[in-house]
Amino acid sequence: MLFKDVYRGKKVLVTGHTGFKGSWLVLLLKKLGAHVVGVSDCVPTTPSMFEALKINELCKDYRLDILNYPELNIIFQNEKPDFIFHMAAQPIVATSQSEPLRTLSVNAMGTAHVLEAMRSFKHACTGVVITSDKCYENVEWEWGYKETDALGGKDIYSASKAAAEHIFHSYVRTFFVNNHPVKLCSARAGNVIGGGDWAQYRIVADMVRSWSEDKTVVLRSPNSTRPWQHVMEPLCGYLHLGAELYAREKLHGESFNFGPRAEQNKTVKDICENLARIWGHKNPSGSYSVVENLNLKEAGLLKLNCDKALFHLGWQATLNYQETAQLVGEWYATYYQKKETNMMDYTDKQINFYFDSAKKQNLTWTV
Ligand SMILES: NC(=O)c1ccc[n+]([C@@H]2O[C@H](COP(=O)([O-])OP(=O)(O)OC[C@H]3O[C@@H](n4cnc5c(N)ncnc54)[C@H](O)[C@@H]3O)[C@@H](O)[C@H]2O)c1
Repeated sequence: MLFKDVYRGKKVLVTGHTGFKGSWLVLLLKKLGAHVVGVSDCVPTTPSMFEALKINELCKDYRLDILNYPELNIIFQNEKPDFIFHMAAQPIVATSQSEPLRTLSVNAMGTAHVLEAMRSFKHACTGVVITSDKCYENVEWEWGYKETDALGGKDIYSASKAAAEHIFHSYVRTFFVNNHPVKLCSARAGNVIGGGDWAQYRIVADMVRSWSEDKTVVLRSPNSTRPWQHVMEPLCGYLHLGAELYAREKLHGESFNFGPRAEQNKTVKDICENLARIWGHKNPSGSYSVVENLNLKEAGLLKLNCDKALFHLGWQATLNYQETAQLVGEWYATYYQKKETNMMDYTDKQINFYFDSAKKQNLTWTV
């Protein structure tokens, strides 16, 4: 039994369901027997996981800007969801520098709108507000950030995610008190990789876009290490958190980090060569070229300390680095090289592989 079977037959509202993480979350929820309602303004990329797998056929598909509070509130009051996962956001650091006002509005006020709409719920609802590891004030240290560390942002993106966290905590303490039927947690994860991501400025998406046009990919920092994490890892962390919060009220108002295993720290060059090999590139070490500094004011690497999720939720990541790279590389190779005609069936096999790996390890959300 997965996630204690709490999602079976439940109505689950996902904001940002047309995005990369949102599309994978809809697939996972459908497999768990949930009825999914999605709210997003548009499909953010072409191609997209959402369109490639016809995710619209799996859920009720609302198109709305979450900054339109009156319409958002009508959807929330009419749908009366049992669970809400809030993921709609402007998630790209580079875009936050060209579009600071939109980033701050969507990430901060968009979160306020979601919480405000939940404030008048009279029915029980469990919510997980997804922010980011970038919500922490980056003091450039090498050990992991804990949930009690200071929030803050030296750049616009970090400020928008720290603001979302402050708004979350202030709403919880001000309004979601005295046996309010809504229970909420926030979840902070770092960058993820996985099949079906075609967003701009994301390293794996850049690789497959370039290789599919027989070009080399341009790497900005080939020797930087990154904690490579498959998208299913934090998503199953959010689902586990939702299931635990549903059963254990005392988690209400808490925030949790979800990160990969420590050994996942490989360089950008490593993952590029691994994925090039899976892609079938004739010369993996020649699959990229290097250019220094595109003048992005992005904060340095943030590492998450996930002890709280381990201690209170019994959560830990499922995959090792090799498995992560294999799933990601094979998904894109299958898509671009048309090795399978039905990407839905293929993605389902990857989800089964992931669930089976977690079951073999007796991870808490599988028993
Ligand atoms: N992908 C990552 O590596 C990563 C890392 C850390 C945190 N996150 C967070 O996870 C969440 C999902 O990220 P993603 O990678 O799937 O992003 P994405 O760009 O693929 O999807 C974003 C989703 O939000 C929706 N959206 C954006 N603005 C909206 C608005 N004004 N109104 C309604 N919907 C709107 C889009 O339509 C899309 O469905 C975001 O909150 C992001 O900050 C992502």
